[in-house]
Amino acid sequence: MAQINPSILSADFARLAEEARAVEGADWLHVDVMDNHFVPNLTLGVPIVESLSRATATPLDCHLMIEDADRWAPQYVEAGAGSVTFHVEAAAAPVRLAREIRAKGARASMALKPATPIEPYEDLLPELDMLLIMTVEPGFGGQSFLDIMLPKIRRTRELISRHGLELWLQVDGGVSESTIERCADAGADVFVAGSAVYGAKDPAAAVRALRAKADG
Ligand code: DX5
Ligand code: ZN
Repeated sequence: MAQINPSILSADFARLAEEARAVEGADWLHVDVMDNHFVPNLTLGVPIVESLSRATATPLDCHLMIEDADRWAPQYVEAGAGSVTFHVEAAAAPVRLAREIRAKGARASMALKPATPIEPYEDLLPELDMLLIMTVEPGFGGQSFLDIMLPKIRRTRELISRHGLELWLQVDGGVSESTIERCADAGADVFVAGSAVYGAKDPAAAVRALRAKADG
């Protein structure tokens, strides 16, 4: 079954706890950490993740769009994240980092920006619990889905199957009721949705509608 992870980037940051509870029933809550260096936007850090992990029963899926991931990612596990995604473009030693995240007790995940190919990282896949393929340039919610990423999703799913791996394949950016089926057909099984969930009148109903579409 498809997993739907609402992104709180599109929520009201002054009412985070309430906004998190509005999507209980979602599989994970996607938390976008941005440092204004790796991406041209700034959001939140360790203390807010710590508070949020106490405020909701939904596990946190932290997506780190920050430089120096090697130094910071383990702190998000300690802050209560159940899954921590670092960008391969920002990690000096991705294998060591993935092992550290797992050793601290969270799921380890690696993200690829749209221009980063999967092929050089094929041998790293067994070190990961999830791979995130960005379907927009990271930094902002509400951007249009990049259809040109569909072949990469398909190739990645083939690699995962060829190696007999269990890792999840997440897509993030422009995922909505009109694009989620294409992602699912290409082989994604975890879907991040910001504006499609928090822009809806009833965010919990939006989660259910997305899941129904993805499960087709
Ligand atoms: C963008 C973030 C996404 C963002 C997605 O850099 O990583 O998680 O919240 O927002 P939508 O679903 O509106 O494209
Ligand atoms: Zn994200």
